[in-house]
Amino acid sequence: QVEQSLRPSNLAQYIGQDKTKENLKIFIEAAKMREEPLDHVLLYGPPGLGKTTLASIIAEEMGVQFRTTSGPAIERAGDLAAILSSLEAGDVLFIDEIHRLPRSVEEILYPAMEDFVLDIVIGQGDAARSVRLELPPFTLVGATTRAGLLSAPLRDRFGVLSRLEFYNETDLCSIIHRTANVFDYEIDQEAATEIASRSRGTPRIANRLLKRVRDLSQVNREKTITFNSAQKALKMLQVDASGLDHIDHKYLLSIIDQFKGGPVGLDTLSATIGEESQTIEDVYEPFLLQQGYVQRTPRGRVATHKAYEHFKREVHET
Ligand code: ADE
Repeated sequence: QVEQSLRPSNLAQYIGQDKTKENLKIFIEAAKMREEPLDHVLLYGPPGLGKTTLASIIAEEMGVQFRTTSGPAIERAGDLAAILSSLEAGDVLFIDEIHRLPRSVEEILYPAMEDFVLDIVIGQGDAARSVRLELPPFTLVGATTRAGLLSAPLRDRFGVLSRLEFYNETDLCSIIHRTANVFDYEIDQEAATEIASRSRGTPRIANRLLKRVRDLSQVNREKTITFNSAQKALKMLQVDASGLDHIDHKYLLSIIDQFKGGPVGLDTLSATIGEESQTIEDVYEPFLLQQGYVQRTPRGRVATHKAYEHFKREVHET
């Protein structure tokens, strides 16, 4: 239940993502005034930025139940039909990794989203017939790492599309202080800033690093997390001063040392460092691109001068 209270439960407690919060606040208030469910919402952006948290906050703010599932968990149309027909009026249904819904399931989702009806086929062969089930009005909140992974017809059925951004250091600092408070643990401002600056703009990473830093403080019997223990713990975790970890290093050094700075195709890179292409694209690259360590070109990935400087390497002449 500690994990649970780590998640803010309403918009006022949710730190950062100001644009998304501001918009949602208005849409939620308007829907409540009309006594209608909120329009369907698509949240997209890199992992760990709070998509699931926001979805649960939407349910809380609307005063309805929060039901959750994921794209890969729904294998057949019947699985989705079972979930949809058990909803109550106004409920929020959260589908994580919605881009991984099978196409056959996606097709029965369209009329459900548009008209709150479910068209299902019962029986086989000559006996097969289509029946239409009425559904309670509901709000679908979908989450995906990239909106471009969704089919256009599915994307078009969301009334609200919101992209979550990497957090700035100030917001991450506030989140770290809030989490430390939930843990009932003191943390110095300098220690919080140090963790924040190495969290790749991502609250999930900030909270994970905080837990490990706290472990070190705890075994050293310190009452307060200090800058010193934060630095020591982060070093043990192989997170460098810019927040890049062991896999970021492998990725960038492979481009620099094995491919002379690139361009190198994603699949080649993936095979070389032994990480899945999809994971590289969704988890590692967004931050490296945003920070300007790497560029995507039509011919592949290219390491930038910033990447060379980071590792104190001489730039390859082309
Ligand atoms: N914990 C994780 N993400 C958070 C956020 N955006 N606001 C408050 N607490 C959080």
